Amino acid sequence: MSTHRFLEVFQSAFETGHLLKCILSKPTAGAIPDLKNIHIRLVTLKNGVKIAFNYRYQTRDEVKNYTLPEALGHLQHLLGTSFQNAVLLTTERDYSLRYEKDGTALLSDNKPSMTSPIDTAHNREKKRLLDPAAPWLHALGITSAKGEVLAAAQDKWRQINKYLEIIENLLRSHPLPTDARIADMGSGKGYLTFALYAFLKDSMGLQPQVTGIELRPALVDFCNKTAQNNGFEGLQFVAADINDYHPERLDMLIALHACDTATDLALAAGIRQQAQIIVAAPCCHKQIRRDMATRNEMAPVLRFGILEERQAEILTDGIRALLLEANGYKTNVFEFISTEHTAKNVMITAITSKKEAPKQKVLDKIAALKAGFGIREQGGGRK
Ligand SMILES: C[S@@+](CC[C@H](N)C(=O)[O-])C[C@H]1O[C@@H](n2cnc3c(N)ncnc32)[C@H](O)[C@@H]1O
Repeated sequence: MSTHRFLEVFQSAFETGHLLKCILSKPTAGAIPDLKNIHIRLVTLKNGVKIAFNYRYQTRDEVKNYTLPEALGHLQHLLGTSFQNAVLLTTERDYSLRYEKDGTALLSDNKPSMTSPIDTAHNREKKRLLDPAAPWLHALGITSAKGEVLAAAQDKWRQINKYLEIIENLLRSHPLPTDARIADMGSGKGYLTFALYAFLKDSMGLQPQVTGIELRPALVDFCNKTAQNNGFEGLQFVAADINDYHPERLDMLIALHACDTATDLALAAGIRQQAQIIVAAPCCHKQIRRDMATRNEMAPVLRFGILEERQAEILTDGIRALLLEANGYKTNVFEFISTEHTAKNVMITAITSKKEAPKQKVLDKIAALKAGFGIREQGGGRK
């Protein structure tokens, strides 16, 4: 009778959306060998809400998703025969079912220990930071006229979303002023610049002035027209060399895949203008590789071209991070997006730090690195 009642409660909790979780424990001698317990919860899959049984063995877990009738069938089969205890948590009550040695079952209930629903999303898409139906995404060739991300633009779409996720996290700890002044140096075709602007305006509620700086006038014209067509008043593009762009105020500097030493020029501009936040994803790293004449214990290893190339990249980005630190930034270097999507996958972020930077100490470290690898300069000497 108690088993029957337990199953009824389980069914009703599922049907009314009150079911939180259920755990079967204390396996009997007749249980599957090594099966310790089963944790049951709801999962939202493409084809609706299912009941996930996580079979927890000594050394592994196995999850199976069932419909309600299947779940009830399995429970009926397991209760009392394979497990002596079962608890069922709902938002209304907690239920506990216990089997005695003689097989009698005791069902008790109590005040609920959890009252808020559990997130059942299983293969839910990550939170959307942009609306794929936005017309500018179509204008930039990322989505179809129906607002579907084009097959050829899937990597770009992933990159855009990852980028915005990073920006969102940075701004959570380091908010920008509402009228933030932002420069995106080496903005290229502009899709990351547009994404940043739309995100800051629509999701963060800012009224930013975002300027893309780009050498190629045709791209600048196209981006300016697209910005106008979409009513993006605070977004503009300027045909200029990063080195010649000196805004009066710069709150955030972006430099994504700016070619070779253009990243250094951009970082130098950010430091010069005392940008509060700097976000850079370096591109090709040619300059240091050309200069390198390793004089330290790495020399025998760096005879191999591919290793020298990788070492040059590490040194380039490492020295960039140290230079930012020497200039009073708290810096981070991490993988932007996995190499599966792009080979240019390192990101450097820097935020102004209130702590006084041990400038000379950091500069000494940079000098030692440069001496060890025979590097004369970094950044093309145009800073
Ligand atoms: C690889 S694209 C990256 C575009 C975009 N930021 C992105 O990540 O998709 C680099 C762009 O930087 C521009 N660029 C390179 N050096 C520059 C400089 N000194 N000043 C302005 N733009 C520059 C190039 O013309 C190119 O469009």
